[in-house]
Amino acid sequence: MSSLVWVELDEDGPDHNLDQIRKSSGFRGIHCAVVKSNAYGHGVKEMVPLLSSAQWLAVNSLDEGLELRLNGESRPVLVLGHVPLNRLAEARDGELRFIVCNSETLDAIRELSPSDKTINLHIKVETGTWRQGVLPEDVPAMAEEIAGIQGVVLDGIYTHFANIEDTLNHQYAEMQLSRFQDVLQILKQRGLMPPVVHTACTAAAVLFPATHFSMIRTGIGLYGLWPSRETKLSAESSESGVPDLRPVLSWKTRIVQIKQVPAGSDIGYGGTYRTTRASRIAVLPVGYADGYRRSIGNTGWVLVSGQRAPVVGRVCMNLCMVDVTDLSSVRLEDEVVLLGRSGGEEISAELMGQWTGTINYEVVTGISPLLPRIVKKGE
Ligand SMILES: Cc1ncc(COP(=O)(O)O)c(C=O)c1O
Repeated sequence: MSSLVWVELDEDGPDHNLDQIRKSSGFRGIHCAVVKSNAYGHGVKEMVPLLSSAQWLAVNSLDEGLELRLNGESRPVLVLGHVPLNRLAEARDGELRFIVCNSETLDAIRELSPSDKTINLHIKVETGTWRQGVLPEDVPAMAEEIAGIQGVVLDGIYTHFANIEDTLNHQYAEMQLSRFQDVLQILKQRGLMPPVVHTACTAAAVLFPATHFSMIRTGIGLYGLWPSRETKLSAESSESGVPDLRPVLSWKTRIVQIKQVPAGSDIGYGGTYRTTRASRIAVLPVGYADGYRRSIGNTGWVLVSGQRAPVVGRVCMNLCMVDVTDLSSVRLEDEVVLLGRSGGEEISAELMGQWTGTINYEVVTGISPLLPRIVKKGE
């Protein structure tokens, strides 16, 4: 036994999910796997090799991109976040494609010393998310400016939807798509169209073929999670196919102590749980420092040999307690499932999100990068 808390990844899950998204949506173009934020908490070093069918990868930061290169990744990598003006040469030398939203970025590129490496830029169009992006009316001038800089190529253009997963009403997304198409039209007329056009996150890729263009940019679906209940409902009630998404990640630990506790004992910090009977309490070596949220205390449960054990008292930084009084044959160092399946039971990222007032994205992304990731053949 090498570790007391760990994450397991289903070896075949990522490519299975990618294939499902492609098959159900009928998409045949470039598939860009979004592996930002430690591959949505799954562990980027372990996940990326499992995404062998993805032709491109996308990350948030320059450092994430450089780390992929350091690990020998040779596929095109797109940096979706801002590249600091004083580190543009690093992006160029690492052959990372990156986005441009500011004229200052172009000014700083002009100042770089000459290189035989090309800089491939993607303009992000602001179509209504009001996050990063260039206003539609400013895009043609920026594209022209890029065309005039030596050693720089406008490789792509894209946008990101604000409200495509959280709703059954897709009017806002349709409006954003229409604004984006208007920009493409102008670029086409002026002979400035870049080769790679992309808008589709998982929900868009699954629900709306009109958002596909030449590349889709999916994250959550590759990890086997639905962007939301609304996306799944929309897919199920549409003519398009429904991908069979398989969660890739399980999160596990082991019992480090079992004790008899008398009735009337207050468990953990703050005494937020009082036993009402003589109880058997198991101590788990996992806490909020690992990403196991404090708010799970007195709300959620774990699985021991397919049986539910409620989390009692507050979750501490590195420990928590579960009530195993009603469970059969529980022993020291038994495996405990925090997230995933055990017997006929499952704790999904969505369920943990309900316990903690958040979404599956935040649940998995919040798992500490310090925990070991173990790749296993799925059961
Ligand atoms: C710019 C951009 N593209 C694509 C994605 C992937 O979205 P999803 O995980 O919903 O597929 C994200 C996710 O946050 C993003 O910020």
